[in-house]
Amino acid sequence: MSSQAQIRRLTALDIRNRKSGDPIVSLTAYTAPMAALADRHCDFLLVGDSLGMVVHGLDSTVPVTLEMMILHGQAVMRGSQRALIVVDMPFGSYEESPEQAFRNAARIMQETGCGAVKLEGGQRMAPTIRFLVERGIPVMAHVGLTPQAVNVLGGFKAQGRNRDEWPAIIADAGAVAEAGAFAVVLEAVAEPLAAEIAGRVAIPVIGIGASSACDGQVLVLDDMLGLTGRVPKFVKLFGNLAEEVDKAVAGYADAVRSRAFPGPEHVYAVKD
Ligand code: KIV
Repeated sequence: MSSQAQIRRLTALDIRNRKSGDPIVSLTAYTAPMAALADRHCDFLLVGDSLGMVVHGLDSTVPVTLEMMILHGQAVMRGSQRALIVVDMPFGSYEESPEQAFRNAARIMQETGCGAVKLEGGQRMAPTIRFLVERGIPVMAHVGLTPQAVNVLGGFKAQGRNRDEWPAIIADAGAVAEAGAFAVVLEAVAEPLAAEIAGRVAIPVIGIGASSACDGQVLVLDDMLGLTGRVPKFVKLFGNLAEEVDKAVAGYADAVRSRAFPGPEHVYAVKD
């Protein structure tokens, strides 16, 4: 037997059992090195389709493909050991029918080895969530602002700022919990509504731009590291890596231009 203790990866059930417990910590991750850095601090890492905008420079998540999600999912699995890895189902890969959703979710799980998938939508997606869960696929739901619907919503707008929008959003969260989702992301929702949903729904509610009353929080890693420029109001910068990267690249450029790099310690001498 190996002398190294085996690290047990968290499962969807572990996250499900954290309802009303210690807050669940989560960030997005898209690459192996970032996953390795975030892994020991996070309960789950989300390979979000936000990677289309953050990594690939797209204007929205709509053009993201299944192949992109699988490639980044594989990288994040290789970089991490402990956190549950949840991979987003991209736009167009699950909405048509429960069968289409199963086929593509199974592909994501088989080809990445991740522990769960996430999909957007509330009441309308509940039958699909039930279909997947009954067939062995743990599903994290996503309600409130659903970025894949940006073209219908007319932009990335906070939801539930008018009280007459509340019943539909509450019903969405209730429907995905009832259908068997193990957790639900609640994005960009007015604070009192988010707190009410967290109190009502039986599964962990993971807030992003929602409320500290949620069972956990998720943020786009690159946003909170200050790497992405303009960020939504709900993002707090926990670092300023853009400044650090700029400083490092400028230092390198100066060193190259002044022939200070490579110095003697960075070149290979002939052996004899
Ligand atoms: O794609 C993503 O990063 C997400 C989070 C914003 C929750 O869905």
